[in-house]
Amino acid sequence: MNETLDITITKADQSRLTVTDFSQLPFGKVFSDHMFIAEYEDGAWTNLQVLPYGPIPMSPAISALHYGQAIFEGMKAYRQADGNISVFRADKNFERFNKSAQRMAMPAIPEDIFRQGIAALIDIDKNWVPNQDGYSLYIRPVMFATDPYLGVRASDKYTFALLTTPTGPYYSKALKVKIETEFTRADEGGVGYAKTAGNYARSLHPFAEALKEGFDQLIWTDAVSHEFIEEAGTANLIFVIDGKLVTPSIRSTVLDGVTRDTIIQLAKKAGIEVEERRVSVKEVIEGIENGKLTDAFAAGTAATVTPIGEISYEGKLHTLTDPATRTISAGIAKTLNDIRYGLAPDEFGWNWIV
Ligand code: COI
Repeated sequence: MNETLDITITKADQSRLTVTDFSQLPFGKVFSDHMFIAEYEDGAWTNLQVLPYGPIPMSPAISALHYGQAIFEGMKAYRQADGNISVFRADKNFERFNKSAQRMAMPAIPEDIFRQGIAALIDIDKNWVPNQDGYSLYIRPVMFATDPYLGVRASDKYTFALLTTPTGPYYSKALKVKIETEFTRADEGGVGYAKTAGNYARSLHPFAEALKEGFDQLIWTDAVSHEFIEEAGTANLIFVIDGKLVTPSIRSTVLDGVTRDTIIQLAKKAGIEVEERRVSVKEVIEGIENGKLTDAFAAGTAATVTPIGEISYEGKLHTLTDPATRTISAGIAKTLNDIRYGLAPDEFGWNWIV
């Protein structure tokens, strides 16, 4: 980290901690007392502030609202066994944030603003980091275009914000998912690899339809043939086929997930063979039917490691192995959690103690 930045701190008059029920934490609804904001104008980031969480005044003409220049990240801070607070793999999220920024014609956020913003926010809201197993403080970096201008071009002004929300896992049970073959999440040459608002916006209608049909989530397939599995939109997908960890390779249509990468590294270290390649719908469905596919799970920061219990394809529901019997994903999930919570050595240097 470079020099210490000048961050203006304005404390909330009253903390909401005492009126927050930490046993009831739906994902993304309860925000900590403060947020971090920085503004980009005339080619520079200025006005770095930690201030009480709340509305930001803005023009209804800002270009993020009209043309979708908006990107975000998802990260987590964990309260470790010794009381330290650690942010997991911040370098990967920082790198991906700026990759998204580049694709969306937005300015890069300097690493010292990203890191010192997180450190300052967690310092002031440290009591918001949950102390329960499986819980963490979810950190949501977001950047959006703020030019009040209706012409179509990259904005000149941006706001970068950090929000934090104490949370448990995004999903609370094994997922019933549908392989989507009509709509697509992303296409070649598009923005699928960027964590940008539009990727989520375009998934909402098909997702709402799937919810009505009783599914928890969709499995997106490639836009050309719908024969290959891509990701789940809220998470990457990992399968165990013939004892090997098999996951769709990262392409321009698939988000390069941090949890996915972490699991691959942990699996390799545990001596499990890993294949990153195109994964066909056919082999997944046949694998369920002939017993070669023994495990399937969603992997993401919010989703953590969530088993997939049932997969529907072309109107037929396929039931996978009982999640309680799945030793590979359970073992990896435990190792991952032990590292995050400081219960196992951090051999990869993933924990940033803030
Ligand atoms: C995350 O895992 O952090 C995500 O951003 C997924 C989210 C859209 C729920």
